[in-house]
Amino acid sequence: SNAEEAGAAGVIVFNSGVEGRTDSFVGTLGAPGYEIPVFGSSFAVGQDLIDPAGTEVTMTADTTSELRDTYNVIAETRGGDPDNVVMAGSHLDSVTEGPGINDNGSGSASILETAVKLAKFDKKNKQKGKKGKGNKGKGKLENQVRFAWWGAEELGLLGSEHYVGELSQEEIDEIALYLNFDMVGSPNYVRFVYDGDNSEGGGAVGPAGSDDIEAMFNDYFDSVDLASEATPFSGRSDYGPFIAEGVDIPSGGLFTGAEGVKTEEQAEIYGGEAGVAYDVCYHAECDDRDNVSMDAIDEMSDAIAHAIATYAVSTEGLGEGST
Ligand code: PHE
Ligand code: ZN
Ligand code: ZN
Ligand code: ZN
Repeated sequence: SNAEEAGAAGVIVFNSGVEGRTDSFVGTLGAPGYEIPVFGSSFAVGQDLIDPAGTEVTMTADTTSELRDTYNVIAETRGGDPDNVVMAGSHLDSVTEGPGINDNGSGSASILETAVKLAKFDKKNKQKGKKGKGNKGKGKLENQVRFAWWGAEELGLLGSEHYVGELSQEEIDEIALYLNFDMVGSPNYVRFVYDGDNSEGGGAVGPAGSDDIEAMFNDYFDSVDLASEATPFSGRSDYGPFIAEGVDIPSGGLFTGAEGVKTEEQAEIYGGEAGVAYDVCYHAECDDRDNVSMDAIDEMSDAIAHAIATYAVSTEGLGEGST
């Protein structure tokens, strides 16, 4: 079934054998024995595949492939130090199964709102036709702020991998930090902060300074009397390429939970339902506009705006053992 596609490159969409579910994997088709990278794992043709959600699937004669173009959307402030850029990103794509409102309309909308509000502090941002109004806070941005809405995250972080892969060493050095927001409105939410120092285990230790970003988020939630806790820096979102060896950009971010199940302890702290997934509609058709907690989005987007504003003013101390 794959012979006629030998040599083609692109997105391989195959039927997972589970009704209503099709999973997308990315790879380069070649002779039998070629490998398909699936979220960091490799599999040979004809072999049973275990998808990231744990569903056992087998490639069948239904396998088809096609090429598609996909885009990142990048926007940055005109002002602020271009040698010390604060980056924030969220993936704009969704899985094919559903509309992707919590995953990841929630993160994309949150950083978009922050960008809109930040614009009036951008000193070179002339606001025409508004005499005496607007731009009141001009010149307050010490550092340049760059927003990224990533494409094709769900196919294996393709947009962010491409972006980071194209950066020169000089451009890498100009990025002071990267903040990632993927799923920040989960209906049965927990306020998760990426565990930048892997103090809880189960993930990666981020580049120096990632611990400071984690502490900044926890301190912020503390200051507004909201609980927060660590979630493994698993590499399962667009910060992966930023914390990769040789890139080493301090990174952090927020998350309100996906297919994981809320514990009794978490239900006591955050409310919601123990024994139920943080997002029962994760990667499903029901991830629609009813699938977001407005409280979660509200609390998370305040934290996102706080983080970006804080680092836009100063990144001092990041990675130097202080917060
Ligand atoms: N990146 C995942 C997605 O878009 C979300 C996720 C991140 C799930 C981290 C678990 C842990 O589907
Ligand atoms: Zn997803
Ligand atoms: Zn996502
Ligand atoms: Zn930690």
